[in-house]
Amino acid sequence: MAAVIRMHPMLLQLTLTSFVFLSCLRNGNAGITSTFIRSEYPSVDIPLDNKVFAVPKGHNAPQQVHITQGDYDGKAVIISWVTPDEPGTSKVQYGTSENGYKFSAEGIVTNYTFYKYKSGYIHHCLVDGLEHDTKYYYKIGSGDSSREFWFTTPPKIDPNSRYTFGIIGDLGQTFNSLSTLEHYMQSKGQAVLFLGDLSYADRYQYNEVGLRWDTWGRFVEQSTAYQPWIWSAGNHEIEFMPYLGEVTPFKSYLQRYATPYLASKSSNPLWYAIRRASAHIIVLSSYSPFVKYTPQWRWLEEELKRVDREKTPWLIVLMHVPIYNSNDAHYMEGESMRVVFESWFVHYKVDIIFAGHVHAYERSYRISNIHYNITSGDQNPIPDKSAPVYITVGDGGNQEGLAGRFRDPQPDYSAFREAAYGHSTLEVINRTHALYHWNRNDDGKKIATDAFVLHNQYWGMNHRRRKLKKHYVRKSLEQIAIY
Ligand SMILES: *[C@@H]1O[C@H](CO)[C@@H](O)[C@H](O)[C@H]1NC(C)=O
Ligand SMILES: *[C@@H]1O[C@H](CO)[C@@H](O)[C@H](O)[C@H]1NC(C)=O
Ligand SMILES: *[C@@H]1O[C@H](CO)[C@@H](O)[C@H](O)[C@H]1NC(C)=O
Ligand SMILES: [Fe+2]
Repeated sequence: MAAVIRMHPMLLQLTLTSFVFLSCLRNGNAGITSTFIRSEYPSVDIPLDNKVFAVPKGHNAPQQVHITQGDYDGKAVIISWVTPDEPGTSKVQYGTSENGYKFSAEGIVTNYTFYKYKSGYIHHCLVDGLEHDTKYYYKIGSGDSSREFWFTTPPKIDPNSRYTFGIIGDLGQTFNSLSTLEHYMQSKGQAVLFLGDLSYADRYQYNEVGLRWDTWGRFVEQSTAYQPWIWSAGNHEIEFMPYLGEVTPFKSYLQRYATPYLASKSSNPLWYAIRRASAHIIVLSSYSPFVKYTPQWRWLEEELKRVDREKTPWLIVLMHVPIYNSNDAHYMEGESMRVVFESWFVHYKVDIIFAGHVHAYERSYRISNIHYNITSGDQNPIPDKSAPVYITVGDGGNQEGLAGRFRDPQPDYSAFREAAYGHSTLEVINRTHALYHWNRNDDGKKIATDAFVLHNQYWGMNHRRRKLKKHYVRKSLEQIAIY
């Protein structure tokens, strides 16, 4: 029996209230724990014979096509795909008109084993020297089984470049995952910031681990072939499985999902940075060493110095494990990274930190806990205008289900929290303003549940914020109403 769900007037009230809270930056208000109870699809993976996993027609046809940014500034993409039967060609033909493939680039092919599973032939091809703000068509594979896709490059790096990011975490391959993906694809998102935990293939054993990476690649292709997904790694990518003889961490993930880490002088594909339109995006690895003097720590120290808010006003950090989380699930797991990096995040006035891992949604006020040290005793997070907003979007819909138990009472720093599946969008309008939405999957309809106007942490300071805010509160409320 299908449950009927509609936006309850009470919920609308909650949404508007939370919106106003953040807009006023009145930290320390009692936060909101949404009482919304969602009717759930069972959290089981979609069966292998479902059409979302269909293998494209034709001998050795390219499958699992995905693209990601290929350089520091958005004039390159890395195009990746798998051919199942033989290596075939790693060439990408591309151009700015349909069927007009004036250019070509040559990639590489690789393969790996996992237990007794043998992967297909995994191709990665860097296509660079592209123009900004341009639609490109591309073709991969050969003969009758070749396939064609397209993507649009971002506008040039400019403080006022407009751009919309989607934010998805912990996706998996259930019917809830499909709902999240479909809802995201109806948004105006132009690139996805992915928060780790891709396929959940590690929930399987033996050869099925590899097979479920393949099905996931085919499942997300409907989006990943057409717009870049900016990857970060989660615990489900580690796949440390000594009982299968598999002890190389991140093996499947690193073989399949390339990142442009060299362009940001990183020594490891698990942490890197890109600049896109008006945003500087830093990707961290929760599961690689990050304490003082480690390569990741040294890299981040240097990368933060390279951030130029005059060119890229929006400073966004992605990581898998949330630093501020008041859910019972993964409670305090982010504490070790908080101790190491939080003072930098405050010093550099990071705008937003997105994390996944917890299968629920939560947003914080601007708070910090950098005064605490082992002798001071000031252990409570306090309102801090220079601190980032922390947002957990680990609710993509994987087979582990929702994290439904929040700590009670809700801590002062927590502005809004709800255990439901969904995705977010961040619509950067110019150097001072961005619109943020969290959209709950509501069994068919796309519902904007938590929304606010974000003022840039660097440029926002120089403006008469209060006045602006009133105006935008009203305008955005209208937007929510018609969403
Ligand atoms: C990769 O493919 C080649 C050519 O088919 C094959 O000989 C080799 O065993 C494969 N390597 C792995 C690690 O599967
Ligand atoms: C620890 O906190 C106290 C009180 O805020 C401060 O005076 C002291 O400098 C801090 N020590 C360190 C090593 O940061
Ligand atoms: C940015 O956009 C907002 C909303 O449209 C506008 O009010 C503001 O003046 C713009 N800021 C700049 C610097 O153009
Ligand atoms: Fe996770």
